[in-house]
Amino acid sequence: MVKQLDKIVIRRPDDWHLHLRDGNLLKLVLPYSSSIYNRAIVMPNLISPIIDIKSATHYRNFILSNIPQGHIFTPLMTCYLTEYSNPNEIEEGFNSGIFTAVKIYPAFSTTNSFYGINNIKNINKVLERLQKIQMPLSMHCEVTDINIDIFDREARFIEDIIHPLRNKFPELKIIMEHISTKEAVEYVESSDDKVGATITPHHLILNRNDLLVNGIKPHFYCFPIIKSKIHQTALRKAISNGSSKFFLGTDSAPHFAYRKESSCGCAGIFNTPTALSIYATVFEELNAIRYFESFCSENGPRFYNLPINEDKITLIRRPWKIKNIINSSTYSLVTFLEGRTLNWFVKN
Ligand code: DOR
Ligand code: ZN
Repeated sequence: MVKQLDKIVIRRPDDWHLHLRDGNLLKLVLPYSSSIYNRAIVMPNLISPIIDIKSATHYRNFILSNIPQGHIFTPLMTCYLTEYSNPNEIEEGFNSGIFTAVKIYPAFSTTNSFYGINNIKNINKVLERLQKIQMPLSMHCEVTDINIDIFDREARFIEDIIHPLRNKFPELKIIMEHISTKEAVEYVESSDDKVGATITPHHLILNRNDLLVNGIKPHFYCFPIIKSKIHQTALRKAISNGSSKFFLGTDSAPHFAYRKESSCGCAGIFNTPTALSIYATVFEELNAIRYFESFCSENGPRFYNLPINEDKITLIRRPWKIKNIINSSTYSLVTFLEGRTLNWFVKN
């Protein structure tokens, strides 16, 4: 019989896809990221999106001023692309270190995406520049045509947008964010090293039965929507092969509970407190713990051309029950998998 591990020590991970929001919500959620992760790619889809150097500098300063004492955390800022974005401003922001990447939201694809892209042909000049300066392009990969089934949005995006985009800009560095389908896995695996992808804990641990059978679960509702088991299995297989093209991106996206538990609930899952334990659980289930560290702490920085972290973090095998740690009389946040027990506990 193989002896069970009782602890896992890995290089400190980074979160390559995170929503920190703004104001009081940011103050509530930031410590859960900064206690575990060394860096995070911070998504720019605030109500007033981060579209230029000025707004990114202001937002970064606000994040930095709210990091608890004793935590070391670097927010890596992204620029929200609109059809009016200026390539010179983006290049200046990249060269000066204020921007690490640019983010494409197709218009109306998700939270605060109204200023996003309607027609990719309108941003050719920006894409040309990104390719030239090798600035990473982070993509929300879903078409928004109302005639296309919500479960097919990602696969159609690959056909309709990514294929032509990569034919035109073969050297462009792209990150397909929060992939959710077997088509995306196959696309990434068959591409060259200019294409990488983040995978969330929720897309690894859930399939659409978890979302829809025995009552609808608003806290499992997110974009891209959770798919069928076939797709979940493809994502799990992708990480268990140890490919360096896939890396940790939680897509933790908090919304107050009253906004999710509503007749028209928002998409987004708050998973920061549980994400790393869930990833460890999944890698263990797949008998692939040997690739856990590269997924969490090495593949992301290599793709972004950034140094890997030197310090370590420890997970110990200890059952813990997930609670909604953030609760106030007016607002509460539900933690992903609240009420369940996880077996890996992150020691801070
Ligand atoms: O479910 C999601 N929520 N998916 C996204 O892409 C955005 C996020 C949010 O910002 O709420
Ligand atoms: Zn996101």
